[in-house]
Amino acid sequence: MIITSSVDGVRQEVRRLQREGARVGFVPTMGALHAGHLTLVEEARRAGATRVVASVFVNPTQFGPGEDLDAYPRDPEGDAEKLRSVGTDVLFLPPVAVMYPPGAETRVTLERLPQHLCGLSRPHHFGGVATVVTGLLNVVGPDLAVFGEKDFQQLQVVRRLVRDLHMPVQVVGGPIVREADGLAMSSRNAYLSPSERARAVCLHQALTDAAEAVAAGERGAAALEAAMRSRCAAAGGEVEYAVVVDPDTLDALSEVGPSGARALLAVRFGRTRLIDNAPLRPPDGARAARP
Ligand code: PAF
Repeated sequence: MIITSSVDGVRQEVRRLQREGARVGFVPTMGALHAGHLTLVEEARRAGATRVVASVFVNPTQFGPGEDLDAYPRDPEGDAEKLRSVGTDVLFLPPVAVMYPPGAETRVTLERLPQHLCGLSRPHHFGGVATVVTGLLNVVGPDLAVFGEKDFQQLQVVRRLVRDLHMPVQVVGGPIVREADGLAMSSRNAYLSPSERARAVCLHQALTDAAEAVAAGERGAAALEAAMRSRCAAAGGEVEYAVVVDPDTLDALSEVGPSGARALLAVRFGRTRLIDNAPLRPPDGARAARP
């Protein structure tokens, strides 16, 4: 695995691989890697990448004033080892001054998608994500890039950004990877106390209940949202949002239509904020029966 921290270093390597005929996949991360991140490397290959570039960069612009950038876990050597073990070809490890050259003042913003869900409690977050993802895609120039579905709003922001700015890259969503009891893998799970960790499974249970209710005929978003909310509240979670939305626009829905919807949750346990989501799909029979 080639490790580089310079723009020219990663660019030259990617161009060389592409000249040799490789289809280059890109997995951007903020490090502190767990098994969920590593499956994104596999997902890149499944989507057709013959070589994979990963980046580890803790992006300062996506942290808000109250969010502790300095406390974010960092383990570049451990991350490099894990990425090597799953056959990553190139690791890009830029310092802040490389991603944001001195005097940098350009920001990428989206008008509407960040005005929902996580954007409400983290108003700076998606502007920072959009800015750094634009920079990283411009530096690496991959054929495809993989973003985890766990951060579903981020995935939709990136899809929109790539479409709007005509960026020549295919965006691939990587399925959510779960612990044995269903909790979605996240670097933040490490902050949960043993009791919080046991109760945090309520997010997955609430989403499973919602998916089962839709399969059994429920279509009303208000009923689905109330059930998810009460399931998480009963486990002692502080629910920030429990919503049923259009999967592309993230606009609130009043009912799950024939083409389905997405259920999304943000729940706090103590100081730890967890997010999760799942597709809601009416059964084919119900779809066919509707006009
Ligand atoms: O999902 C993440 O780890 C980050 O938000 C990303 C996409 C690497 C941008 O910093």
